[in-house]
Amino acid sequence: MGMFNDFRSPAARPAPVAPATAPAPVPAPARAPQPARPVARAEAAPVPTDWLDLKHRLHETILEEMNLSALETVDTKDMRRAVATLTVQHLAAQKIELGSDGFKQLVSDLIDEVTGLGPLEPLLADPTISDILVNGHSHVFVERKGLLERAPSTFRDEKHLLRIIDKIVSRVGRRIDESQPWVDARLPDGSRVNAIIRPCAIDGPSLSIRKFSADKLTMDRLVGYGAITTPAAQFLRAAVEARMNVLISGGTGSGKTTMLNALSACIDRRQRIVTIEDAAELQLQQEHVVRLETRPSNTEGAGEISQRLLVKNALRMRPDRIVIGEVRGSEAFDKLQAMNTGHDGSMTTIHANTARDAISRLEQMVVMIGADFPLSAVRNQIASGINIVLQLNRLSDGSRRVMSISEVYGLEGDTILMQDIFIFKREGRDAEGNVLGRFLPTGVRPRCYDLIMAAGIPLPTDVFSGLSGRGVA
Ligand SMILES: Nc1ncnc2c1ncn2[C@@H]1O[C@H](COP(=O)(O)OP(=O)(O)O)[C@@H](O)[C@H]1O
Ligand SMILES: [Mg+2]
Repeated sequence: MGMFNDFRSPAARPAPVAPATAPAPVPAPARAPQPARPVARAEAAPVPTDWLDLKHRLHETILEEMNLSALETVDTKDMRRAVATLTVQHLAAQKIELGSDGFKQLVSDLIDEVTGLGPLEPLLADPTISDILVNGHSHVFVERKGLLERAPSTFRDEKHLLRIIDKIVSRVGRRIDESQPWVDARLPDGSRVNAIIRPCAIDGPSLSIRKFSADKLTMDRLVGYGAITTPAAQFLRAAVEARMNVLISGGTGSGKTTMLNALSACIDRRQRIVTIEDAAELQLQQEHVVRLETRPSNTEGAGEISQRLLVKNALRMRPDRIVIGEVRGSEAFDKLQAMNTGHDGSMTTIHANTARDAISRLEQMVVMIGADFPLSAVRNQIASGINIVLQLNRLSDGSRRVMSISEVYGLEGDTILMQDIFIFKREGRDAEGNVLGRFLPTGVRPRCYDLIMAAGIPLPTDVFSGLSGRGVA
């Protein structure tokens, strides 16, 4: 790596180059297809600091020497050409030899830096990565198949990371600084981002990216992954078709939104669906969908558009179904009201650890708004409004599973009655630490079975007895 040391000497300034707007002849390597970076990188040893330094230097020079406003409009081919030209000239001036792979990598990295989100770009482009988590500039982790691993990418320093964060939030017209040290944003591709910086993030800026996956998990694939069994999926499909109201409960990252998306696919294509989300994530396959998204308050604390307002508005949109991404607050009240006044077949997720908890949380959300609504009335609405509660969990081996499917079937005195229809029975672990267990019907035939039959949806009773297939998860 000694050769990079020369480059770092302050005396080493780049030779003058042609302006970006008039691209010079393309050096051969730049035209070659980009190497499969995520793979190549993943196998490589940790990136040496010299490489980061070299990139940083070149990046600064490019910013200095290229016409930045022209950059915005330039197409990627011209950009690649211009960056390649500059790079060649620099490397030659500094007598640095990189070889063709190194050169291509450098040009790609520089383009990522200039036009994109720098070190995040290869991670964003890698379809096997579902989450990107940056804990300070030198600790980057990714999630693949439910498991976290350290990523080879790093940022040069805190300033570099901050610059990328700034790029993300300014693109969506938001701001992040000491007075407002966190922000939620969405990347142009739909990925969700949370950024939090000092003074709240004491070890440096932190970024959490939940990547948008165009390839959503369908119910069949959830069965294939062992998240749920065929009979249970059959029951859920029928329940959705028969317009049961479904509550999907689980912790963060337990697969709630994924399940909601998979379940929504069972809605009849002819129905009008209105979705309400804080950050639109759902990807319904139906044609007739109106997507609504809330708006956070601005830096002066004004202008918020809440889920509650959107639910109220959705009710005036002649919806056949209302799907709320996640209930968190007072919108639960309007949602319950709606479900009790003929807007059946709605679905939502809720953050809770058990099906019982989910119901209590819902209750709290409604009670919180302080309307003249006695608890018994709230319970009554929940008991008659909610039909099915799914509890999801992310287990210690990283797998995400449905832990239970329960039915809310009535009210006795002040108690909401619930019964489990399917439950996951743990059976220890195997040698690799994978959780073993089976997801089995409890043998109870849900009361809503009659409603499903009445709606003319075919569903054999043996899904509830475990005779229709292996209950093995
Ligand atoms: N059953 C599953 N098996 C594997 N990965 C899953 C499963 N369910 C969800 N995922 C993945 O887990 C991540 C978190 O899922 P998500 O539905 O967004 O969780 P939540 O809404 O509970 O926070 C996503 O990347 C998703 O693709
Ligand atoms: Mg979610």
